[in-house]
Amino acid sequence: MSKELETAIAAARKAGGIALRKFGELDLAEIHPKEYKDFVTEVDQACEQSIASAITDAFPEDSMLCEEGSAANGYSGRKWIVDPLDGTLNFIHSFPVFSISIALSDPHNDLVAGVVYQPVLDELFTAEKGQGAFLNGKRIHVSTRNNPEHLLIATGIPFKEYHYLESYVSMLKDVVHDSAGIRRAGSAAIDLAYTACGRFDAFWEYKLFPWDYSAGVLLVREAGGIVTGFDGNSDVSSHHSIVAGTPTTHPLLLEKAKRHFQEHL
Ligand code: IPD
Ligand code: CA
Ligand code: CA
Repeated sequence: MSKELETAIAAARKAGGIALRKFGELDLAEIHPKEYKDFVTEVDQACEQSIASAITDAFPEDSMLCEEGSAANGYSGRKWIVDPLDGTLNFIHSFPVFSISIALSDPHNDLVAGVVYQPVLDELFTAEKGQGAFLNGKRIHVSTRNNPEHLLIATGIPFKEYHYLESYVSMLKDVVHDSAGIRRAGSAAIDLAYTACGRFDAFWEYKLFPWDYSAGVLLVREAGGIVTGFDGNSDVSSHHSIVAGTPTTHPLLLEKAKRHFQEHL
């Protein structure tokens, strides 16, 4: 295992411990509004501080992009992309679905390492480019289900971007017809990790940021899946919409995403 992945795993586990110790114990005074319908807690900040210092100690030459503002401008061309707590709203409401997401991209912007850690279940998803994807050390693969009547599909709802809502709802109706069920878990990193290990058969969300999806994208690809934007472009570093799935489910969802979100692409 590379030093990069080892560092990311140790940082994710440590941040997971910080989050878990405060889970269900959060005081209202520890929750701060960021923007409209967007919150940051002191736990997000503590997790980020812990991860950022682990990464800069180990790789001072690398750059870093973290959701809560920690940053580094290194000369190596590599970039760490960190969501210290994905699923903050769940965390605030003591809904036990949240994760820590850490990814590394190389100087060509290719994702080369990714970790998603779900502390409540002590589940660690890891991947390195070309090495496969793993859950707690065991190799994982995307699902092989292909009958639409059997598919469980994950999504995220554009809960503050109302101008996408109509397109989203029309796509949702369409997916309802071609699936057995839909889940909105509230952590995009977990949605992608669960797609990588076959719990979900596919995932789509329109408005995400690199810290939400970077580690999860590598997990899905290394598990044999396909990830693109809603326009079908596989360079996800340049846009914010994600369709992830298996060689069977990805084209199914992508066709719907292109059709329903046509005016936003
Ligand atoms: C959120 C989660 C959620 C997604 C939101 C994200 P946060 O991240 O990933 O599933 O629907 O768009 O903002 O704010 O909890 O880190
Ligand atoms: Ca997030
Ligand atoms: Ca977050």
